[in-house]
Amino acid sequence: MYRAPRGTQDILPQEQPYWRYIEARAKALCQLYGYERIDTPIFEEAGLFVRSIGSGTDIVEKEMYTFPDRSGDSMTLRPEGTAPVCRVYLEHGMGSRPQPVRLYYVSPIFRYDRPQKGRYRQHHQFGVEALGEADPLLDAEVMEMAWRFFTDLGISDFSILLNSIGCPQCRPAYLEKLKDYYSRLAPRLCPDCRRRLEQNPLRLLDCKQASCLPLGEDAPRSAEHLCSECTSHFQRLRSYLDALGLPYRLDHRLVRGLDYYTRTVFEVQPSEEGAQSALGGGGRYDGLIQELGGRPTPGVGFAAGIERAVLALKHLGTPVPPLPRPQVCLAYLGDGLEAARLASALRQKGIPVLMATGSRSLRAQLRQASALGMSYTIILGEKELASQTVVLRDMAQGTQREIPLADIATALASL
Ligand code: HAM
Repeated sequence: MYRAPRGTQDILPQEQPYWRYIEARAKALCQLYGYERIDTPIFEEAGLFVRSIGSGTDIVEKEMYTFPDRSGDSMTLRPEGTAPVCRVYLEHGMGSRPQPVRLYYVSPIFRYDRPQKGRYRQHHQFGVEALGEADPLLDAEVMEMAWRFFTDLGISDFSILLNSIGCPQCRPAYLEKLKDYYSRLAPRLCPDCRRRLEQNPLRLLDCKQASCLPLGEDAPRSAEHLCSECTSHFQRLRSYLDALGLPYRLDHRLVRGLDYYTRTVFEVQPSEEGAQSALGGGGRYDGLIQELGGRPTPGVGFAAGIERAVLALKHLGTPVPPLPRPQVCLAYLGDGLEAARLASALRQKGIPVLMATGSRSLRAQLRQASALGMSYTIILGEKELASQTVVLRDMAQGTQREIPLADIATALASL
């Protein structure tokens, strides 16, 4: 028997209400803030992601699904949504539109991760990106969207962690200080961190290994080593957040796992669970579009993991609205021609009908209608056919009445 590949899941009909609910909330939120939908291909040239996410990151080193296509070009299943949106911005000349360009997406994301609860090889993200504007007001807008997204879903037990990791002007000097600090502790670092010391020193700060965790506490803090522009950006962002009454916590160890970030980085962390289970994350990436060959163009965004939002809703026992489905079943005897015609005519009038099928007894068809939770069953037996009537059965009451065939649509509509 084939099974879904490890780390992937089928979204079964009974799961769909969660997904549709979350997606509907995401769309409504984006409408509220003026973000337009964008859909990009599931795969892109591998280089787009290597260039944006950074060759020393876990995603690029260990997690990308990269394959040569039949003409030998190297393709990658989308491991995140920001780089494709920046590619779109450049490819479609969006720099000439009024700035910032505000876009959102809901897409599958692929990472060859070690599967566990809330961590999958195919997951889905709802993400927003605002391109072409450096004003910290926009960082605050995106953070408020992240906050409102989870709050509106009824998930309120989370914190927003915030940090600033500077820019290409101030970061090199900070990284030197960080390397100095950790070099002295090198013998106590895990093997991964010893490698990071050379390749990606910022990531030393968020190592989750028990041996490395305490070492980060006294490490130099990026937010204390910012240039004057980054300092002012961070201060203004914080004053906007305060003005909006948006709760956040400064976390000097928050650095994020993608190399494109500049200045603002933030994460939405559930209060009770471990650090691996961020509900969402984002930040500013002012160098990314230039890195991809465009003119210097700032950007800021965030993405939320939909599977994690579903898990949180289930954990909280939050009810989600059911999806619309037929409340009327049509049971019949005989060859079914008249029944098929009636079902078709009702649907033509916009009345959803579930057709009983097969040559079951009427009793079996009624049992099925009841098992499916139908409110009404239309019964079209031989006697009814002869008299051009139907029987309409109220499933909950167990009562039924005869109605002329020509009046059934009106009768159902009035129910
Ligand atoms: P990220 O933090 O890598 O950021 O992913 C965003 C969210 O996707 C995470 O907070 C988490 O909820 C979810 N997620 C990530 N990996 C998995 C996984 N393996 N299984 C289930 N859920 C997962 C980004 O991808 C950035 N592109 C976000 C961004 C947008 N930054 C600026 N704009």
